[in-house]
Amino acid sequence: MSTWDNLRPVKTSLTGIKPTHLPHLGNYLGAIRPALSLVEEYRTLYFIADYHALTSVREAAALRGYIRDVAATWLACGLDPDRTLLYRQSDVPQVFELTWVLSCLLATGQLERGHAYKDAVARGEAPSAGLFNYPVLMAADILLYDTDVVPVGKDQKQHLELTRDVAQRLNHVYGEGTLVVPEALISEAPLVPGTDGEKMSKSRGNGIPLFAPPKKLRKVIMGIKTTSETLEDPKAAEGSTVYELYALVAPDRAPEMKKQLEAGGYGWGHAKQDLYEAIEAELGPKREAYLDIRADEPRLDAILHAGADRARAIADHTMARVRHAVGIE
Ligand code: TRP
Repeated sequence: MSTWDNLRPVKTSLTGIKPTHLPHLGNYLGAIRPALSLVEEYRTLYFIADYHALTSVREAAALRGYIRDVAATWLACGLDPDRTLLYRQSDVPQVFELTWVLSCLLATGQLERGHAYKDAVARGEAPSAGLFNYPVLMAADILLYDTDVVPVGKDQKQHLELTRDVAQRLNHVYGEGTLVVPEALISEAPLVPGTDGEKMSKSRGNGIPLFAPPKKLRKVIMGIKTTSETLEDPKAAEGSTVYELYALVAPDRAPEMKKQLEAGGYGWGHAKQDLYEAIEAELGPKREAYLDIRADEPRLDAILHAGADRARAIADHTMARVRHAVGIE
């Protein structure tokens, strides 16, 4: 028996990662690093939400690549597949059975209030039924595995409320205890600024790549926007992108940088060089691991399939319970 099975009585934590882009430093500091620290406390399931990505990625080759980029990134950052179930959402088709059952219990009005859907309508777009139903698939992702807690960012809070609502409704209609009602573990994850000082995001194009070659990484860091004091001037550390990033990457050494900036005689160029070195120290070894794992797709796919085998076993249990409860079996 592997470590994961031995953790059984412990609470289960599950989260989904949408493979829509190559992960950047913001994903690492805001999601990957905190999620990996939960392994000590919870029985963890992390999955690649590839069917969710279809609401935005329309290029098959790109999606195929992102799925493996994301999986390899998490593995390179320290996810141990013996301790954490890592799998692809699409490898567990039971999730669609549960999606249907849940959708029969949800009012369309509740889905119409969904942030992503409402925003798309407000922008004058014609959102797909996929975007409309996105939260139902997400609820099924969670409820299929008897999840106790879901570590997510604030932007996912509404989805978690809907998940709890529909689980409670199903239990109320078909029998208490049929589904575990999960709780959101809203991360206090820091806002990670991008090169322009705004929140780092793929769509803004202000990302710091996670595993770019050192030369490229340095170039991006040297391009971070700063104020234009002279080298001698004292500088405000708080609120500056370079310092904020440094404080996230190397919290132990942040007070030192702060002192130097505030004293003057230490330029933004120096601070950027220190930031670059701190990032390189943390991510350099992980880059090596990433390139290694990413290059061996058969091995990567084997890890994902092994995770999916075990995920399907849990899913079968839940679906048997749900089918029986609703009268299908
Ligand atoms: N919607 C989440 C996001 O955009 C991704 C996701 C899909 C998810 N299914 C999930 C997160 C289940 C937590 C649990 O980030």
